[in-house]
Amino acid sequence: MATVRASQTRSNLGALMTDTNVAPPSKPAKAMPDAQTVTEVKHWTDRLFSFRVTRPASLRFRSGEFVMIGLMQTDEKTGREKPLLRAYSIASPAWDEELEFYSIIVQDGPLTSRLQHIKPGDDLIMRPKPVGTLVHDALLPGKRIWFFATGTGFAPFASLLRDPQTYHDYDEVIITHTCREVGELDYGRALIDSIRKDEVLEELIGEGFHEKLRYYPTTTREESPKMGRITDLMRSGEVFRDLGVDPIVPETDRAMVCGNLAFNLEIKDMLEEYGLREGANSDPKEYVVEKAFLD
Ligand code: A2P
Repeated sequence: MATVRASQTRSNLGALMTDTNVAPPSKPAKAMPDAQTVTEVKHWTDRLFSFRVTRPASLRFRSGEFVMIGLMQTDEKTGREKPLLRAYSIASPAWDEELEFYSIIVQDGPLTSRLQHIKPGDDLIMRPKPVGTLVHDALLPGKRIWFFATGTGFAPFASLLRDPQTYHDYDEVIITHTCREVGELDYGRALIDSIRKDEVLEELIGEGFHEKLRYYPTTTREESPKMGRITDLMRSGEVFRDLGVDPIVPETDRAMVCGNLAFNLEIKDMLEEYGLREGANSDPKEYVVEKAFLD
């Protein structure tokens, strides 16, 4: 795993709260529209990387939302430069002074084949219009929330898991992450570890808040302590037995889902069978779904 960053590591929340030790990055005049500067890049596997960019002072978003980001490309017909954009969930929480994203590299993908080479100091485009359904506002009040992710679908939950509202609204927060291989779990695992150790977050949310957090990683194509698709592990009841919790019921359980299309469809059916209904910003109910975006 390789990390490159523009400035030394620090607690972003701490920096935001004390507001003293962070010099704003000096930015040159932008040639591209809605440009933001890359501050850190971390490669987790040969196909997965995360990066952080400067955040426009005016940008407000709700944890779990996504924005369009990308690079300029030359139009083959006209020779003109135009933006090439894709939807990316914001992986950082709303209080963070920077924005974080988590991406797969698709070797022949028009955007990620280029984006994989970004480094601190580079500019990229970020349209400052956050949207999305994986937000607390789209769910009715409940006692337990499930975050179901596959692959890079972990990204919006990396935001929500660092949002104080998640712990204020629920007694129990369960995040499941299914990936093909063990290395693909690393970003999520590192994030969970950092949350459990984050003293500033603890001060903000309350002592022992992370005791509400349960993490359930599984792999499907490489040996790990827990193997299998989360959907199969739910059907067999194994996940509930492993965690020592009751099965899902509509009265108290809420769920957010983000993964590949087949996974989203399958788990959506299962949640409906448990009696949960799909919610939206304008019509909150018991669960919400978003596709993990690919190039
Ligand atoms: P599997 O290896 O059995 O296909 P991908 O990398 O293709 O996006 O998949 C990410 C993870 O999601 C993989 O572990 C994959 O398992 C799993 N997955 C794919 N489709 C489904 C599904 N319909 N239900 C549950 N898990 C799925």
